[in-house]
Amino acid sequence: MRPPQLAVPRVAPSILAADFSQLGAQVREVLDVGAKVIHVDVMDGHFVPAITMGPLAVNALRDIAAEYGALLDVHLMIDTPERQVGEFTRAGAGSITIHAEATPHLDYVLAEIRAAGVGASLAVCPTTPIAVYEEVADAIDMALCMTVNPGWGGQEFIEASIGKLERLRSMLAPEVALEVDGGIQLGTAERCGAAGASVFVAGTAVLGSADPAGAFIALAEAVGDPRR
Ligand code: DX5
Ligand code: ZN
Repeated sequence: MRPPQLAVPRVAPSILAADFSQLGAQVREVLDVGAKVIHVDVMDGHFVPAITMGPLAVNALRDIAAEYGALLDVHLMIDTPERQVGEFTRAGAGSITIHAEATPHLDYVLAEIRAAGVGASLAVCPTTPIAVYEEVADAIDMALCMTVNPGWGGQEFIEASIGKLERLRSMLAPEVALEVDGGIQLGTAERCGAAGASVFVAGTAVLGSADPAGAFIALAEAVGDPRR
């Protein structure tokens, strides 16, 4: 039960790069030009050093996202995500990504996410072997291949990600979306798309730019996001 928004290529603006005093208006700006996936980066100060946002931020965006038929794509960079999945599903997450490095209970947590009617996704850090995806093949709707080290926006794309994406794409069933996250701008997005990625998270390149709507449209056109 892959969320319908993920059936075609999508650029997913990350609100990590937004001006939080203008969050609703900034998200509307990209929704107005056809964004259908909004990426929410949750960091706990433990799995990664930074602390960012939690279910309150997801809940604050749920009505705006629903108005536009958009998906809230929640990326949990937190330890023991099994303790938090319920809070995020109740807050309005449409897809939840957990990290393979964050819990020994992947089967249990992915099933818990799906049982809530939410898309289940598994992420790996740049050096985590992708063999784990063989074990969760039937339990996920999306795979998130980190293309930087999780924890910060504005980092440089890790080149080894391209080969990893190609290997990952050949392991996954065609209906499983493949998301890339970190250092995504026009050039890296096109190369990740050629390597099999279908969901392109962009923080700095969209909401961190002077013209988020224009930047979103340019990226969307580059990767084949239909913007509807
Ligand atoms: C990093 C986050 C990313 C972040 C990407 O840990 O998972 O989603 O927002 O930021 P940029 O696009 O600036 O690399
Ligand atoms: Zn992210």
